[in-house]
Amino acid sequence: MQERCVVELKNVNKTYYNGVATPVLFDINLCVAPGEFVSVVGASGSGKTTLLNIIGLLDAPTSGQVILHGRDVSQFSEDERAQMRREYLGFIFQFYYLLPEFTVLENALMPCRISNCKEMDAKRARAIELLQQVGLGNRIDYHPGQLSGGQQQRVAIVRALTNDPALVLADEPTGTLDSKSGLAVFELMKELNRTTGKSFLMVTHDEGFAREADRTLPIVDGRIGG
Ligand SMILES: Nc1ncnc2c1ncn2[C@@H]1O[C@H](COP(=O)(O)OP(=O)(O)OP(=O)(O)O)[C@@H](O)[C@H]1O
Ligand SMILES: [Mg+2]
Repeated sequence: MQERCVVELKNVNKTYYNGVATPVLFDINLCVAPGEFVSVVGASGSGKTTLLNIIGLLDAPTSGQVILHGRDVSQFSEDERAQMRREYLGFIFQFYYLLPEFTVLENALMPCRISNCKEMDAKRARAIELLQQVGLGNRIDYHPGQLSGGQQQRVAIVRALTNDPALVLADEPTGTLDSKSGLAVFELMKELNRTTGKSFLMVTHDEGFAREADRTLPIVDGRIGG
């Protein structure tokens, strides 16, 4: 039976404590369905990255539940969280984070290299296919420093998909790009969402892109939907 939500948040709250308490997220409830493209849109400081870090198991909520792949991850050990990240999630960040000493294809396959993927030949073939789909078929042996920002982000998008994750998380993926490259990157994410059937959760302050998603959730001062 297919899961109802690839990720579900139940009454998630987050307060940072470092000398003073900074409450950031309040009672977040969220379900991203399989294959859905959801955008969370809000102003700088509204809690978008905090939310994505919690869903991406890079940070833990102060209270509430995060359910990934049908499993409540709150009791997971650090190893289990890392395994979940590798096998179930793909990440796209604002600043790409490609490794400069590796080629485009090697960067795209990095999640596989890290997690000792089986069927490496098939993964490599799939990565090449995806690089072709994003218009980088003639750049697979280039290094990141030889690419434009938009091209680097397209490599990062392919990298987020090579491990065949159920859910791709994107934090301001168009944030550093000019409007034309930003639009191209966004359109590619939508196309890959359609062709791969993977769920996407994107956070952005760009209302124009956000509106193009299947569903748009405004976040205001750490609250979604009111
Ligand atoms: N480690 C931390 N310790 C204390 N406060 C933090 C920490 N990280 C973030 N915050 C606070 O949490 C709030 C939300 O930050 P967050 O990075 O989630 O916002 P954002 O919506 O992603 O903003 P932007 O659009 O600028 O990226 C901010 O007020 C920030 O100061
Ligand atoms: Mg942010």
